Amino acid sequence: MPTYAGQVKCIYIDPPYNTGNEKWVYNDNVNSPMMQEWLGKVVDKEDLTRHDKWLCLMMPRLKLLRELLAEDGIIFINIDDNEVHHLRILMDEIFGEDNFLATISWEKRFTRSNNARLFSSIKDYIVTYRKSSMVSQLKEARSEKSDSIYTNPDKDTRGLWTSVSYVNPATKAQRPNLTYKIKNPFSKAMIEHPTNAWKYSYEVYLEHAKENRLYWGEKGKNTFPRLKKFLSEVEGGIVPTDLWRYDNAGTTDEGSKELNEILGKDIFDNPKPTKLIKRILNLALDDSPNAIILDSFAGSGTTAHAVLALNKEDGGNRKFILVECEEYADEITAERVRSVIKGVKKATDERLKEGLGGSFSYFELGDPIEMKSILEGKKLPSYIDLARYVFYTATGEEFSPKAVNEKRNFIGASKGYEVYLLYKPDLDYLKNTALNLEVAKQLGEYKGKKRLVFAPTKYLDTDYLLEYRIEYCQLPFEIYKLKG
Ligand SMILES: C[S@@+](CC[C@H](N)C(=O)[O-])C[C@H]1O[C@@H](n2cnc3c(N)ncnc32)[C@H](O)[C@@H]1O
Repeated sequence: MPTYAGQVKCIYIDPPYNTGNEKWVYNDNVNSPMMQEWLGKVVDKEDLTRHDKWLCLMMPRLKLLRELLAEDGIIFINIDDNEVHHLRILMDEIFGEDNFLATISWEKRFTRSNNARLFSSIKDYIVTYRKSSMVSQLKEARSEKSDSIYTNPDKDTRGLWTSVSYVNPATKAQRPNLTYKIKNPFSKAMIEHPTNAWKYSYEVYLEHAKENRLYWGEKGKNTFPRLKKFLSEVEGGIVPTDLWRYDNAGTTDEGSKELNEILGKDIFDNPKPTKLIKRILNLALDDSPNAIILDSFAGSGTTAHAVLALNKEDGGNRKFILVECEEYADEITAERVRSVIKGVKKATDERLKEGLGGSFSYFELGDPIEMKSILEGKKLPSYIDLARYVFYTATGEEFSPKAVNEKRNFIGASKGYEVYLLYKPDLDYLKNTALNLEVAKQLGEYKGKKRLVFAPTKYLDTDYLLEYRIEYCQLPFEIYKLKG
């Protein structure tokens, strides 16, 4: 959070669907006895609280993910009918109804399961929200398929074109100003639609006719004209729709085949296809080649694979952050990423065979910083860890370890403050250290920013604090947000 809050352009997550058949466990680090009762048991169909558990899993995570998302960022959540309705309500609450963009239906397979006794579901949902109204227009890259509707049957010198209807869905009575006669230049007949108006005003029609933009079919045989739209005039991508067919977004079978090729068979259930994630990235990142993409339910690491593949294709420098809580984070999640970076000998895709390039770092979470244990003197965090924590909590701004000067107790400057921390992971030091006049004098000259000093206690009265422009925060209980 201290490093990435507000920085992530695109979040894709694929949390447990809660089908009752997965082996997911609600495993939060919570202390309440009621919650403890809940923990550590596999959530199955028999569990009458399974929806509650799922919501308990998702709510705090979605709140944190929202903090990580940039103002112009978008979050995509892969889900199915087991929880989609709960997820929508939860997302409305956390992100706001106005930020709902779409529930994309993704055709994840194209064959039905004959084992199903009722419906065979062949789609998943991708619930999509923006962080704010800064996302006001979306365009998708044109696919080969969308380009293929452009042809040039009349050899127009302006190149490939497609045509759209000239007839208005509204009737003549509804739009009298768009009702007039137009001339078929082949038969010279004056044409009027029997019931409906035209789409354009008479003046615009005259321009269309002059520019030879009306298509009357081969040898002018159509009853009504159509308007030519040239490929060369279509700017930037196309408007995305919320129905994603398998041929443009991949299938779950493709996802499994991709992973089999890299790590061997049946190593992970239902990995997503990279094609799906690439489509999401293309939509969310438009022209930000340095964007950060986050997936906090990383599984087999498809998201990192897709990011690296896209970088390889266009020379971009997008970065990924993956999070995985299971034992296999190293063996499967990170291993897949290592393999695709280096190259996969038996891959059919040439780029993957050669290696997608790039690099990453692998971290395991350390002990959490718990204020209670600081108070009790158990497990005191290192200077830099506490500095990172208090700096971000107090200022809401990014912490830079390079700025720290422990001798001067200085841990960095935010927009409004110079921040100081008097601390050592040593109880005797903490008992005997205070913000006093000597420390105040050592802060040096006032350079226009107030000085925020964290210390175990203070021996300075308000007049001195005012004189030295100091705001004091007691460690550890008074770490508070200045922002807001
Ligand atoms: C459906 S899989 C994601 C698959 C991934 N999209 C892929 O293509 O391989 C969900 C992942 O979320 C992880 N996960 C993370 N936090 C979890 C939590 N608190 N409870 C259950 N699963 C969690 C699971 O370990 C699992 O690997």
